[in-house]
Amino acid sequence: MEDLWIEKYRPKKLDEIIGQQVVVGRLKSYISQKNIPHLLFSGPPGTGKTTTAMALARELFGESWKENFLELNASDDRGIKMVRETIKEYSRIMPSNPLGFKILFLDEADYMTDEAQAALRRTMENFTKTTRFIISCNYSSKIIEPIQSRTAIFRFKGISGEDMVHALENILKKEGKEYEKTSLEVIAEMAYGDMRKAINILQVAATYSERITVNSIYEAAGTVHKEWALQVMNFALKGDISKAKALLEDAVIKQGISGQDIVEQFHRSLYDLTIAEDLKADILYYLGEIDFRISEGARELIQLESFLGYLYGKSIK
Ligand SMILES: Nc1ncnc2c1ncn2[C@@H]1O[C@H](COP(=O)(O)OP(=O)(O)OP(=O)(O)O)[C@@H](O)[C@H]1O
Ligand SMILES: [Mg+2]
Repeated sequence: MEDLWIEKYRPKKLDEIIGQQVVVGRLKSYISQKNIPHLLFSGPPGTGKTTTAMALARELFGESWKENFLELNASDDRGIKMVRETIKEYSRIMPSNPLGFKILFLDEADYMTDEAQAALRRTMENFTKTTRFIISCNYSSKIIEPIQSRTAIFRFKGISGEDMVHALENILKKEGKEYEKTSLEVIAEMAYGDMRKAINILQVAATYSERITVNSIYEAAGTVHKEWALQVMNFALKGDISKAKALLEDAVIKQGISGQDIVEQFHRSLYDLTIAEDLKADILYYLGEIDFRISEGARELIQLESFLGYLYGKSIK
């Protein structure tokens, strides 16, 4: 495969970062002071945390940013060992830039044990003069309080559908690819705020088809679409269980789509069914049950068909 678009189109400047105006605005004021405190970046995957940290380093250190920026992934090695050794070694070296500090970016810190986080906190204190830490996580609640209170917290938001469609259009224009506008809206709906996921789906679709269409997107994403989910649920609710079952088996057995993807699509499409609100609530509850059972290892097809049975039981035949 050619270059990954997520890397090719990763913003290099803070101004190019999409949908994080509050974060970017606050960071710019640090740049004008040429100094930063320890930072905590929190937010869903694929929303620009790593990208923003890199752009910040570029703007602070210019050409030599790479020598002044170290990225570590906490989930590669959850232990205290990494904090003690790698982080200490890096923190100890005197920075070779006029600002007098370097940046250590620690990704997925919410996967670190509390002991490792406590060790990290002490290291942060000992090396504050030479090293600023940017700690990145999906959930700030999983970061121990002493670290939270020693960092400036930045909350990243999921990228809005509108921003996403706009960004995807720009990529396709640069790549000279033709596309159906609705297909980009479908991607935005699938990606649920995750820009990495959106760009990846787009690139896979672009490799397989000349023109990006709604169908090429579903194929690339390896999942079922909303209309499909609505159709299956409607058949079962109207009492045509065998048609619903046939569609489901085609997706699971022939197309190899995962049970959890299918449950997710049912879950998202449910709101578009024209049925009573209390019935929607019951269905939501049941979907939660089968999602859990599938995640615990129950057989997917049996669970999904039990869902059809449940809908059938609710039908007005
Ligand atoms: N806000 C954004 N603006 C523009 N592109 C973005 C943005 N967020 C993510 N991207 C795109 O998605 C890719 C992945 O983003 P990034 O690595 O910054 O996500 P992250 O928030 O660090 O995710 P994770 O929580 O999984 O570490 C980037 O290379 C870029 O192409
Ligand atoms: Mg990241």
